[in-house]
Amino acid sequence: MIEEFHRVKRLPPYVFAEVNRLKAGARARGADIIDLGMGNPDMPTPQHIVDKLIETVAKPRTNRYSASKGIPGLRKAQAAYYARRFGVKLNPETQIVATLGSKEGFANMAQAITAPGDVILVPNPTYPIHEFGFIMSGAAIRHIPMVGRASAPFTGSDPETEFLRGIERAVKHSIPKPLAVVLSYPSNPTAMTVGLDFYAEAVQLAKKLDLIILSDLAYAEIYFDDDPPPSVLQVPGAIDITVEFTSLSKTYAMPGWRMGFAVGNERLIGALARVKSYLDYGAFTPVQVAAAAALNGPQACIEEIRAIYKSRRDCLVESFARAGWVVPPPPASMFAWAPIPEAYREVGSVEFSKLLVEKADIAVSPGLAFGEYGEGFVRIALVENEHRIRQAARNIKKFLARSRESMHNVIPIPQKVSR
Ligand SMILES: Cc1ncc(COP(=O)(O)O)c(C=O)c1O
Repeated sequence: MIEEFHRVKRLPPYVFAEVNRLKAGARARGADIIDLGMGNPDMPTPQHIVDKLIETVAKPRTNRYSASKGIPGLRKAQAAYYARRFGVKLNPETQIVATLGSKEGFANMAQAITAPGDVILVPNPTYPIHEFGFIMSGAAIRHIPMVGRASAPFTGSDPETEFLRGIERAVKHSIPKPLAVVLSYPSNPTAMTVGLDFYAEAVQLAKKLDLIILSDLAYAEIYFDDDPPPSVLQVPGAIDITVEFTSLSKTYAMPGWRMGFAVGNERLIGALARVKSYLDYGAFTPVQVAAAAALNGPQACIEEIRAIYKSRRDCLVESFARAGWVVPPPPASMFAWAPIPEAYREVGSVEFSKLLVEKADIAVSPGLAFGEYGEGFVRIALVENEHRIRQAARNIKKFLARSRESMHNVIPIPQKVSR
């Protein structure tokens, strides 16, 4: 048997697996770890959605294979969401596919459109599937540094312009000409948001450069100012070249249900639907029916979920600042993108995250895990309640009070860091 399989060889250990391993070790030693590592929503799914699932499970025939691209009622519900939220009209038959979470949708879209060696432009830092979905499909990745308002100090004009110029530069210097560009706002991990003007420029540029746009809008409903994130599909003509991914995971606290959507250009959606028709039979019908109930039903639950994240954000920013760690307030998403405190900046995000687990009983995600330009930061997920966040701040205060040198001697710095 060959030593390492071609695809597996191209996948470094999954970032969250690394964090989980550290956490498990500490917990096994009896530590009460405050887990702000993985973006795994902790709130219950709203009751009316759960009730719809239970009701549907009890019905005959819902145990059968479902529809790979999603049952018609679910695709219609997603079309209604795009119409009311973004004013974007979509044909549920040809422009919408239900996916097993946006992650699966994104990865299978990559598989559907990529030929070996195709070049894909991916922001860096970003959510890992944006890169590795394409790597698994045989693509070559060209990284576009993405620094945001809530992110690293940067030297150019504004982060949006910087990113667009990065796309232009990448296309100019890539052979073969890149096939697609990934956009993802509100960003995981930086929480950066953009306005419709940015999307208008991005669409114009992508059309000029003949690029497909894949937009990941997983945090469409998790925002904290009175400024809901727009959809790139609001730009007239964007649908000619764009597919956008959304998710019920964060919007309705349904991460384990695995329900998301790809919507947009018919040819691209058709390609995804074709690939998926070979791979799966769609989500379990009761999950699809309950997902449609989520989209069609009362939407107050979204506001409640948003308000919880907002209070946690405020609590985190305020209590961490009092503890001596200034964290910029994220405008959206469920993450704070926090610069490593000055005294620890030199050790880097991976070592700093390890120190937090070992010495402060807190798990966060190292910025490097989201790409090389994520170094210097850690991502703090708002997935523990305010009481626990305040406890984390107290731990941080004690941790920061101890000398950097003494910490440094306890945890050896490895020579090589894998993502
Ligand atoms: C930007 C982004 N896209 C996609 C996902 C995956 O979400 P889903 O549960 O819909 O697969 C996440 C999850 O954290 C995310 O942060």
